[in-house]
Amino acid sequence: MINRSFETKYEEYASLEELSAEDRELAKAAIDAMRGSYAPYSGFNVGAAVRLESGHIVKGANQENAAFPSGLCAERTAMFAAGANYPDDNIVAIAFCGGLKGRMTTAPAAPCGSCRQVMAQYQTKAGKPMSVIMIGATSIWKFARVDDLLPFIFDNI
Ligand code: THU
Repeated sequence: MINRSFETKYEEYASLEELSAEDRELAKAAIDAMRGSYAPYSGFNVGAAVRLESGHIVKGANQENAAFPSGLCAERTAMFAAGANYPDDNIVAIAFCGGLKGRMTTAPAAPCGSCRQVMAQYQTKAGKPMSVIMIGATSIWKFARVDDLLPFIFDNI
C-alpha cells in the first residue's frame, strides 16, 4: 500500500486592483454579469464571464425556473453560450461571483460540482489550462487550472 496526497495551490488577491489587467477585465465582466441573474427562488445572484483564446469575453448569469432542475448556474450558462456561439474558440479562463440580493459574498463563492465537471471538459477540449477566478468582496482566489478544484477528473469517454 502507498499513501498518496494531493495538494491544491492557489493565489489570493486582496482586491481587483491587485489582479493583472486581463484578469481584472474578466472579473469586472463577471461582476457586471450579475445583473443578468434571474433568481426569484433562491435570491442568490451569480455572474460569470469566460475569456476565449481570441481574447473575447462571454458572460453568463444563473437562470432559475419554477421546475427547479430546469434552471442553470451562471458558470455553465457562460460556458455553454461560449461553446455554442464560438465553437472554434476555446475557453482559457473563467471568473464568477455571487451573493444574496446582488450583494457579493465576503469570501469568494465556490462553484458547484457540476460546473467544475463542465469546466474540466472545456479545459480538455482546449488542450491547455483554464484558470479559475473566484471573486469575493474582500478576497479573490485564482486557481491555475481546473484540476486544482476537481482532482481526479472524469474524462475517460
Ligand atoms: N449557482 C450558480 O449560479 N453557480 C454555482 O456554482 C452555484 C450555485 C446558482 C444556482 C441557483 O440559481 C443559485 O445559485 C442558488 O443555488
